Amino acid sequence: MICRMETDDLKAFLELAKSRRSVRDFADQGVLPAGVIEQLLEAARWAPSGYNLQPVHFVVVTDPDQKAALRQACMDQRQVSDASAAVVFVGDRDVVKHHFDGVLSMDLEAGAVNSEYERLLRRYVPLAFSTGPAGLGWLWKATLAPLMGWFAAVPSMPAVHRRYWLAKQVGLSAMNFMLAAQAGGLATCPMEGFDTRGVRRVLGLPRGMEPMLVVPVGYAAKTDLTKTRLPLASLVHNERWHERHLR
Ligand SMILES: Cc1cc2nc3c(=O)[nH]c(=O)nc-3n(C[C@H](O)[C@H](O)[C@H](O)COP(=O)(O)O)c2cc1C
Repeated sequence: MICRMETDDLKAFLELAKSRRSVRDFADQGVLPAGVIEQLLEAARWAPSGYNLQPVHFVVVTDPDQKAALRQACMDQRQVSDASAAVVFVGDRDVVKHHFDGVLSMDLEAGAVNSEYERLLRRYVPLAFSTGPAGLGWLWKATLAPLMGWFAAVPSMPAVHRRYWLAKQVGLSAMNFMLAAQAGGLATCPMEGFDTRGVRRVLGLPRGMEPMLVVPVGYAAKTDLTKTRLPLASLVHNERWHERHLR
């Protein structure tokens, strides 16, 4: 049973989630107070990730010239340079190489993972993400996995769907960031409208680091923004899929 205190928390959270808007008009209030971005990134860092691999990096852009260059790569969307900062959420394609051993040791030490789960992770994770020598493992997985799926349940392979896998991780992290910003009286706008090569060039991203989402953050110039959502009943399916049509 939900106690009264928790009901109030839930209500407050729903209000927060519903009040967040994608803001494109930012007030010119300059830089954010010291430590604010760090707090928002702290919320982003605590988002869950597959196997706790934590493949999301955050490139924080506040310098006016750098913001102007980033804006150009974002199809000249003005919120990028008008906001106090723009955070680029970057996914690491080689996260197993970079984080797997380190995260596993930390989780083992903290008692978050037992030795049985460790064995499973050590067997499965490198295999699932590996593309094999000269990418041949990728080809094998891309062709054989769907065939095997006719006979047994086969998980989708991160090695094959790398960008898709990263998009899930980045989305969860960015949502935490945006809700934390909303809670702190700040506005954000999630953005996928950018030229990937242009963003890579502006940020000097190394090979394997994929810009996935740009999120300007700052003070909203207007706070009375409205937006609609489809009725919940048109989107919820109980137990199994049921056709739903909007009237
Ligand atoms: C993944 C994603 C990419 C988006 N890309 C852009 C973008 O490039 N530019 C923009 O102005 N808004 C962008 N948006 C904002 C959406 O238009 C907005 O979330 C939607 O209209 C709902 O409005 P709300 O966020 O105010 O509720 C994006 C949103 C998401 C989730």
